[in-house]
Amino acid sequence: HTISMTSLEGYYIPSFSPPEILRDIFNNIPHLKCRNDDVFVCAPLKSGTHWTWEIVSMILNGKAEIIHKSKNTQMLEAVPTETIDGAPSPRVLNSHLNLYRLPREVLEQKCKIVLILRDPRDVAVSLYHHCKGILKYEYDGIFENFLPLFLEGKLMYNSYLDYVVEWEKAMEERPGIHLIYYEDLKTNCIEEVRKLALFLEVTCSNDLIRKISDKCNFQQMKDDKEKHIPEELRKALYKNNFSMFRKGTVGDWRNIFSVAQSEYFDSMFLEKMKKSKLLRRYT
Ligand code: A3P
Repeated sequence: HTISMTSLEGYYIPSFSPPEILRDIFNNIPHLKCRNDDVFVCAPLKSGTHWTWEIVSMILNGKAEIIHKSKNTQMLEAVPTETIDGAPSPRVLNSHLNLYRLPREVLEQKCKIVLILRDPRDVAVSLYHHCKGILKYEYDGIFENFLPLFLEGKLMYNSYLDYVVEWEKAMEERPGIHLIYYEDLKTNCIEEVRKLALFLEVTCSNDLIRKISDKCNFQQMKDDKEKHIPEELRKALYKNNFSMFRKGTVGDWRNIFSVAQSEYFDSMFLEKMKKSKLLRRYT
């Protein structure tokens, strides 16, 4: 079984991203105009982008309410730049694109950037279900055959490790990048929301921080978000019981990886992860 994907300049494209939009981004046309009050939420696919996007939006809006206009309307590779240009401030822009693929403006301007990282093994498992659940990928393979694709960077957005290494370098040079680990958000959401509000320079009462953390807990968000997806849209995009909000746990990889797969992961990733300050916690 193969995954039905297109690629552009050797870069694998996700199902929701029209190639013409990506081509424009790669060529920096039309030029994205960043605003100083933009916040960019950046993460490898399946690392908690939806979750973080909601939290950032709630902090900026000063309200613990889920926004039902999906984050995808402010996703660089999903909508034309003109649409993003027309969105009111404060924008919570987001992207899974590699840093070198993002418009240069993002790093050059003063906008704030929130980066989310998650254990790559959990990312691989989450992405496996994602590929199986989205009709466009026409995929029904077994995990054993999927894992090499992830580790060799042959899936949407290519290499997970390259993504992290690029940001790691950028963080040494550019202030205004706030890192969140999915696992920390899971174990101590209140503290992470507090730190995030501080980074965003938004005054947030303890009460609001608690409410945001409650509202964004996995089950609440899942129920709330899924209620608002029209049935026809769900049927057109997803297989029967697929959900973007699948399980939302830490360490699910232990239920899926065999001993051999774990050893294979280590042989491909572990040494490189040890060299990365950002990923060392997973080694
Ligand atoms: P799983 O497939 O492991 O459940 P992204 O938004 O970057 O695509 O990431 C999707 C992953 O984040 C999915 O992981 C999803 O369930 C999880 N997720 C989404 N909202 C969450 C929340 N409120 N709490 C915990 N995990 C969440």
